[in-house]
Amino acid sequence: MASLWQPPLNYLNRPVAVLGAGVLGRRIGRQCSRLSCIWASAGYNVKIRDPSAQQRADGVAYVEENVSSYAQKTGKTPGKAEAFEDMQAAVSDAWLVIEAVPEKIQLKIDTFAELDALTPADCILASNSSSYKSSEMLEKVSAARKTQILNMHYYMPPECMVVELMTDGHTTQDIFPFMVERSREAATLPYVARKESTGFIFNRLWAAIKREALTILAQGVSVPEEIDSMWTEMFIKGGMAPCRTMDNVGLDTVAFIENHYIAERGLSPEFTVNFLQQNYLDSGKLGTKSGKGGLYSPETKTIATNGTLSAPNMLVLDVGLSAATPSMSSGEILQFSPGAKAPQILVKGQALPDGIDIDRPSGRIFWSNMGIPGKVDGAIYSANADGTDIRTLVAPGTINTPKQLIVDSLSQEIYFSDREGLSVYRCNFDGSNLELLIKNGDFENQEHRQDVSRWCVGVTVAPKLGKFYWTQKGPSKGNNGRIFCANITTPAGQSAQSRDDIKCLLKDLPEAIDLEVDEETNTLYWTDRGEIPFGNSLNKVQLDGSGLTEKPLSFGDYEVLTRHLKEAIGLKLDTKNGRIYMTDLGGNIYQCDLDGKNKKVLYSDDFRAFTGITLL
Ligand SMILES: *[C@@H]1O[C@H](CO)[C@@H](O)[C@H](O)[C@H]1NC(C)=O
Ligand SMILES: *[C@@H]1O[C@H](CO)[C@@H](O)[C@H](O)[C@H]1NC(C)=O
Ligand SMILES: *[C@@H]1O[C@H](CO)[C@@H](O)[C@H](O)[C@H]1NC(C)=O
Ligand SMILES: *[C@@H]1O[C@H](CO)[C@@H](O)[C@H](O)[C@H]1NC(C)=O
Repeated sequence: MASLWQPPLNYLNRPVAVLGAGVLGRRIGRQCSRLSCIWASAGYNVKIRDPSAQQRADGVAYVEENVSSYAQKTGKTPGKAEAFEDMQAAVSDAWLVIEAVPEKIQLKIDTFAELDALTPADCILASNSSSYKSSEMLEKVSAARKTQILNMHYYMPPECMVVELMTDGHTTQDIFPFMVERSREAATLPYVARKESTGFIFNRLWAAIKREALTILAQGVSVPEEIDSMWTEMFIKGGMAPCRTMDNVGLDTVAFIENHYIAERGLSPEFTVNFLQQNYLDSGKLGTKSGKGGLYSPETKTIATNGTLSAPNMLVLDVGLSAATPSMSSGEILQFSPGAKAPQILVKGQALPDGIDIDRPSGRIFWSNMGIPGKVDGAIYSANADGTDIRTLVAPGTINTPKQLIVDSLSQEIYFSDREGLSVYRCNFDGSNLELLIKNGDFENQEHRQDVSRWCVGVTVAPKLGKFYWTQKGPSKGNNGRIFCANITTPAGQSAQSRDDIKCLLKDLPEAIDLEVDEETNTLYWTDRGEIPFGNSLNKVQLDGSGLTEKPLSFGDYEVLTRHLKEAIGLKLDTKNGRIYMTDLGGNIYQCDLDGKNKKVLYSDDFRAFTGITLL
């Protein structure tokens, strides 16, 4: 049946009423003031109704003093707060009333009856109760009003801005998107329970955790300090989220493990194993490893809620290894543009592309294809920024496994590392003058070839400092990553094998990959693909005036800016706009500030594995 529900008429010019507890407890009184402040900061006038004169005065004072700081998050001109002892005066023109009266069910039933009588017919009534469902408060309200009542349960604003919305069993469905929008305008984070549920969403999760923690304690299996410490490592530092982790583990494995508990504890399988079996396992949805997804659907995920990309103009390489049928020609160059629905494929059929960069003056892009690792079939190409006019700079047959690639627009040269080639190279924009800059050994020598500490991966150039930098990542997750620096000009009379200007700036890194230098501030940034907690991270270190470090630094001497990447690779600085972009093989493109804060996923696709990135 089509719903005839309309938002409360002219709601923008009507107040929000908050009904206080009348209790002189600091905490509850405070919460009521904070709730009022939230709605005032969204631009609504707020009417506080409280039986206690002290609470009324405190509530108004709190809003007056604090609303401007709340409003920094909403960007709105705050409304005013007024307090009333009389219920009718407080609610007679409200579009929303939130009750936060004491948690006594009879009092709530009577309050809703009173509100039903005193508020305009289109007013939405909400309960902040955490212990009662709003369906338990409906005894004396009219049938029509039941469709406009819901739970709106706040936690501890402004520290925690989460609010849970839940139906009373009759609530008009259209009210939820409307209240979600209004809640977002108030800078709170709304979550809608899709059904009535004792404990809403969060308190149920929390209940399960409490229950098992207590059982572990009761059985003498562990102690509080160790439970908390393990929790911190796994869930806080490790960043585990339950549903995503189940998908990563595999839903078949989750069901298998759950069956043990079912058998040992005599539990019902109804909502666990049977639920998984019928809804996921039977249809081949096993989680991340299956193309059909799991608890999360396998579709491309973009961050913007309106379904468009919020990425800047940029080019990103998909190495092709996560394609549905990976092959040596699944690699692609993708263009992201703000507002587009999906990335555009500029160039297809690439053999494990890894590094990409652009020469802004000419608008030419350059990229490396690794080819088969260990074979001398790596290649370097260039094209126009729209993917046309592809030219071969270094054809297969000369270099081994070219990785990060960087353009020096001033000298019109490109630099790239060659991993299994144990080298760093430079050449002109047309591929001429291919020059070996660093050579860590001989690929033909088996001992050298197998010594991964000689592998060069990332490379960047700092023309003003007269230096270039590269990483030697060492064994996978091996804590033997290093970052080196040498002069752009090879010392006279020396060669890639014999040069004596090579300096090791950092050592014992989890597994350093790509790097970039900000020449304005002499700051070196790099991605690291090593073991968690400190691998799979973005890092930075301050260099001295000549672009070096006094001695080889190691963990503790540099800053870990952000963690939790899924096999981190690509890196691009946009210092002008204070942004850093990163990619990982897990199919994510990230953006964060120069200090690593405000990290967000710009794009994510399980069927892609991203390497090089550059901004247009
Ligand atoms: C709303 O509920 C939360 C959680 O139970 C509680 O901490 C807070 O005091 C309540 N706020 C009001 C205004 O009742
Ligand atoms: C404003 O908020 C601060 C921080 O929560 C609080 O300490 C202060 O008492 C509030 N002002 C009033 C008048 O309540
Ligand atoms: C989608 O949202 C983004 C960011 O909020 C905005 O920049 C963009 O214009 C929106 N696009 C459309 C089609 O509404
Ligand atoms: C490297 O370059 C710096 C300045 O660019 C210079 O002072 C130094 O002598 C060079 N080192 C070698 C070994 O050539």
